[in-house]
Amino acid sequence: MRSTNGMLTVALESSPQQVSIAGRTVRALSYNGGVPGPTLRLRAGDTLNVNLRNGLTDPSNLHVHGLHVSPENNGDNMFVMVDPGGSFDYQYKLPANHPPGVYWYHPHHHGYVADQVFGGLYGAIIVEDPEEIPATRERVVVISDMTFDSSGTISAATEMEKMSGREGELVLVNGQLSPALSASPGERERWRVINACTSRYLRLRLDGQQLTLLGIDSGRFESPRDVDEIVLAPGNRADLLVTALAGTSTLRALRYNRGASGGMMGARTTSSADVALATFAVAGTDTAAFTAVPEQLAPRDLRSAAVTARRELRFAMGMGGGMGGGMMSATINDRTFDATHVDTTVQFNSIEEWTLTNTSTLDHPLHLHVWPMQIIEQNGRPVDSAIWQDVVNIPARSIVRVRIAFDDFSGRTVYHCHILDHEDAGMMGIIQAI
Ligand code: C2O
Ligand code: CU
Ligand code: CU
Repeated sequence: MRSTNGMLTVALESSPQQVSIAGRTVRALSYNGGVPGPTLRLRAGDTLNVNLRNGLTDPSNLHVHGLHVSPENNGDNMFVMVDPGGSFDYQYKLPANHPPGVYWYHPHHHGYVADQVFGGLYGAIIVEDPEEIPATRERVVVISDMTFDSSGTISAATEMEKMSGREGELVLVNGQLSPALSASPGERERWRVINACTSRYLRLRLDGQQLTLLGIDSGRFESPRDVDEIVLAPGNRADLLVTALAGTSTLRALRYNRGASGGMMGARTTSSADVALATFAVAGTDTAAFTAVPEQLAPRDLRSAAVTARRELRFAMGMGGGMGGGMMSATINDRTFDATHVDTTVQFNSIEEWTLTNTSTLDHPLHLHVWPMQIIEQNGRPVDSAIWQDVVNIPARSIVRVRIAFDDFSGRTVYHCHILDHEDAGMMGIIQAI
């Protein structure tokens, strides 16, 4: 669905739905009957109107992940609650200088986010480039994971799984198990990759093909980078060019160790096994080579900017509830989410530096709504280029520093761990720009 004359108006209905996955008919959750939901295509300056109907039996709402839009009124307001059977009209206005790139949408009603995303509620948002990047075709690659029980219903997560963050047994590409993709040698494809998994990290490889990374999350790098693999934490996206080389390759997610959890109940590592996600068969006659990708304007760089405020966010996990109680706590600065409490107040137009300290034995991917973060330092090592992300991984027992420019919008929104089980357990804070 593509905007015309600066406007895109869509109806999205979330509902339980029979879908066919891996040759089985199963009961998932879907937007407009599909997993994933429809791809929304916008340009900077556009207005997106969404009429959300909630056909679920639980409360829900809609979040446009990564879009730089106002958190006020009917914009990206995750405090809205849409009751079962209810509906809500959202209006998002993208600023004229909105960065191009890959974004996505998903529900965000606290306490239900992990279940609803794991169930199948997500879709891609593409903000088109101002100038054309020549490619033979574009593929939206939404990667998600799910587990079904023997009756074909989405499995519920155990307390242990919530602690480490649930990972599904099936890792799907656009709702399919191991799709077969094909191209001709020399073709250039634009892959818009989204990690829509609830907790799974994706260390992606497509050996035998030439990969060029244009950007992660928000906007594009100044110049494209040739890469062998990309690591996407839950919520991250990659804007990737694949130049097809003859032969058959497998898109794989390699083992990624994101720490151990479990404490007194026995440590359990959360490194996922290698999985094959799709095949990519390249055969036939060679096609013409493409022109080079145009360089970008240098992205904004806050490394030498005057910082107006500094703060620390400390991420911790623990087990409460006594012997065998199994109640987990997931906190930021010793607090769990409280919808009535503003945790962080920032001044409109200020530049802040945040020290993100992870005291736990698991990685936590921090996501801040509305304002992207520039990564300044990782474990004491300065980052030597301007990289803007809206999900920044904080590895277990590590410190990451980011800088954020709070311009354009005021209002109230949130930051949280994008392991959605941790978010639902309270690893989320409210931020207000005044
Ligand atoms: Cu992808 Cu606050 O969410
Ligand atoms: Cu978000
Ligand atoms: Cu977390």
